[in-house]
Amino acid sequence: MHGDFCYKVAMTKDVRVGIIGLGNMGSAHARMIAEGKVPGLRLAAVADVRAEVAEKFPETTFFESGSELIRSGLVDAVVVCTPHFDHTRYGIECLDAGLHLLVEKPISVHKADCERLIKASEGKDVVFAAMFNQRTDPAYKKLKHLIESGELGEIERVQWTITDWYRPDVYYSSGGWRATWAGEGGGVLMNQCPHQLDLWQWLFGMPETIWAECQIGRFHDIEVEDSVTAVMKYSDGKRGVLITTTGEAPGTNRLEVACSRGRVVLENGKIEWLRNEVENREFLRTTKNHFGKPDLWRIEIPFENTGEQHLGVLKNFAKAILEGETLIAPAAEGMNSVELCNAMLLSSAEGAEVRLPMDSVRYERLLKERIAASKPKEKVDEQGAVDSEEFAKSF
Ligand SMILES: NC(=O)c1ccc[n+]([C@@H]2O[C@H](COP(=O)([O-])OP(=O)(O)OC[C@H]3O[C@@H](n4cnc5c(N)ncnc54)[C@H](O)[C@@H]3O)[C@@H](O)[C@H]2O)c1
Repeated sequence: MHGDFCYKVAMTKDVRVGIIGLGNMGSAHARMIAEGKVPGLRLAAVADVRAEVAEKFPETTFFESGSELIRSGLVDAVVVCTPHFDHTRYGIECLDAGLHLLVEKPISVHKADCERLIKASEGKDVVFAAMFNQRTDPAYKKLKHLIESGELGEIERVQWTITDWYRPDVYYSSGGWRATWAGEGGGVLMNQCPHQLDLWQWLFGMPETIWAECQIGRFHDIEVEDSVTAVMKYSDGKRGVLITTTGEAPGTNRLEVACSRGRVVLENGKIEWLRNEVENREFLRTTKNHFGKPDLWRIEIPFENTGEQHLGVLKNFAKAILEGETLIAPAAEGMNSVELCNAMLLSSAEGAEVRLPMDSVRYERLLKERIAASKPKEKVDEQGAVDSEEFAKSF
């Protein structure tokens, strides 16, 4: 049912859910479901290639292979929380088995895999969702409403400095798949920034071209990018700049939107709108004052807390299956953030602007070359001592 995001599935009982990948994120999701925090979902099975993690959920059937869980007949729906490359494989297996699917971000590592995954969903009467929990944040929801209602007028420029994804070296050694082309498929763009890239396309749409510089291992001894500056050009003249890194302290999270009705800034848990009393374009055409500027209103837009985040997406997944509720994040939309990420990496590798829609085969080729040259990490603490509840709160 790709393209129609309202699913109606006649189910009367709780949905039996399986979680594949019981690391930091999968354990956090499994715990929320096991504790009964998600009405309509029941934790029925879990799977991980590491047998020792079975003890985290002793009451629940454990499989050492995600495929066995999918074929078990014990589940109606699956949440895929493995390292990135397995999202496509397990996702396709779930969809082919007619199971509802919630896939962690990014939905796949590269655009060609997204296309394969989305194709597998076509014609299937299942719910196919992605874990873009930041779409539940009232600040971003409010900004989206301001844009779509026309309150802000034309969007002229967007700048997102998201440099507070600070990660010390110990983080990168908490799992052999991290920060390698073969394991993670990228660095800050592929692991931390899928949230911002998704919000970017959700709020402002897709650009026409991207130019980017992705600095490989600038702060850390890793083979993937940990510092990025990207410029996005839109056909309507709008320009966007995204700056991100995992190596800057204290770091910033500032989203600045210049629009014909003024300037909106999301920063430090506040939305501040400096509103032009007269629209910018109208003022600059009509004023007789050589150095005049539109008068301003300073507006602080209130919103409550940070929303339900992961819990909100899980609740929505359940309601989409049971009641046909519209999805917060249909998985097919997840291809856009992957394409933005891939295009930035491609642009940086080729030293040229990339036009969108991007050639998925060209990027897959580049990634395969990088994977062929990828080196396994020498020293890895396979499961970093991370408290999964604390971990979930940090996103
Ligand atoms: N939505 C968010 O806020 C958020 C936050 C962090 C991570 N994530 C995403 O969650 C996913 C997992 O990240 P994590 O930080 O939990 O990683 P992690 O390394 O802590 O956990 C991954 C788990 O998957 C298991 N695994 C590996 N290969 C497997 C396979 N083939 N079959 C079954 N299990 C397998 C590992 O043994 C490990 O337990 C990633 O896609 C990541 O980007 C999302």
